[in-house]
Amino acid sequence: MDWISFYDFKHSVIYVNGRHRDVHYRTIATDIRALVPSPDAVVMDYGCGEATSAALVAEACQHLTLVEAAPNVRAALRERYAANPKMSVMNPEEAAATPDHSVDMIVLHSVAQYLTAEELAAMMATFRRLLKPTGTFVLGDIVPPQMASVWAALSLLKFGAQNGFFWAAVGGLIRILVSDYFTLKKTHGLSHYTEADMLARLKAAGFAPQRAAHNIGHNQHRMTFLSKPV
Ligand SMILES: C[S@@+](CC[C@H](N)C(=O)[O-])C[C@H]1O[C@@H](n2cnc3c(N)ncnc32)[C@H](O)[C@@H]1O
Repeated sequence: MDWISFYDFKHSVIYVNGRHRDVHYRTIATDIRALVPSPDAVVMDYGCGEATSAALVAEACQHLTLVEAAPNVRAALRERYAANPKMSVMNPEEAAATPDHSVDMIVLHSVAQYLTAEELAAMMATFRRLLKPTGTFVLGDIVPPQMASVWAALSLLKFGAQNGFFWAAVGGLIRILVSDYFTLKKTHGLSHYTEADMLARLKAAGFAPQRAAHNIGHNQHRMTFLSKPV
């Protein structure tokens, strides 16, 4: 099993229950919506997952393309958003074939930790090509090296307490300890980056980056970077 097939399952490990999943995606969509540069912006959310609140982002832009590598997740997205003319769903190959310099904002949120540094560099090169010269690359949820699991657990408990699923979050944390997630984490690993390291990688990929004051989503121990092509 790899990370894409892990995410292709209907599973209860990442989201402790339906409420967690919905609050999670609503929080992310609200944060992404706030970054949309204008109502006529063309936006791509790459590795969007189940994206149950993505219509909120589509409302604020001209067109939203959801890109997802996991086939079952992609099929569910197509079904969910079939009636929304402002939204389309693509696999990574279709996304890479989008015309050069045609996208205003590309979001890669909570995906980089599942990629090797080489895979992330290749993705950045694709995004650099797809973005308009005035565009923005939004790289979210970058996990710093220190105590990542502890901060992830504490952030989830806090998010649960704020949104009425604290005890489900406690149960979810126990379940995750015996899940494929930890096996995969041991075999495939997760990629961690310091702020300085990620700024250097973004510069090397042809961007002028800056760290955002707020990370997209609930875990403020992780980092979001906003980058312009140079
Ligand atoms: C933690 S989910 C993030 C979903 C959503 N962006 C969010 O923030 O909730 C990670 C996503 O990364 C995708 N993913 C993992 N490896 C990938 C790869 N090599 N290429 C593209 N997507 C990948 C998975 O399919 C999954 O949807």
